[in-house]
Amino acid sequence: MKKLDFASKPIDENFFENPQEYPLTGYHKGHAVRAEGKQRYDEHGKPYPTMLGIHGTNVAVDWDSCIADGSCMESCPMNGFEWALAEGKTGKGNDLPIEEGSELWNKYRTDKADPVNEAECIYCNACVVACPAGAISVAKRIDISLQKA
Ligand code: F3S
Ligand code: ZN
Repeated sequence: MKKLDFASKPIDENFFENPQEYPLTGYHKGHAVRAEGKQRYDEHGKPYPTMLGIHGTNVAVDWDSCIADGSCMESCPMNGFEWALAEGKTGKGNDLPIEEGSELWNKYRTDKADPVNEAECIYCNACVVACPAGAISVAKRIDISLQKA
């Protein structure tokens, strides 16, 4: 179990309908990022130590919820995810180890699941069910082919 100093809260399923709270703040590897740099609150109502926001739109991972479990990657039949920091790697135990107090720790706390292949999603929901943190929400929200790089 990874050491955490916050209480992960599940992703807000309605983030897409609430651009006030989750404004589009940029793009990363072909997918949208929302609410990056925005202070949000964990399960105990305390500010998250990170302000990483939500990566992806149709396959959305709340990076402030993600605790690097890795089950999402193992359950996805389409190879939808890779580790954000251990790029190109997937699966449990293959995330980048982060030393407490380091620069990476200050920004990320743990590695994060990045929905790099959200365009391939078949909406089976396996990752949503697998994630112990409830960090993922999958829905056909936009025509992904129209997204900017
Ligand atoms: Fe993160 Fe959940 Fe995957 S904690 S690594 S989104 S299974
Ligand atoms: Zn990303």
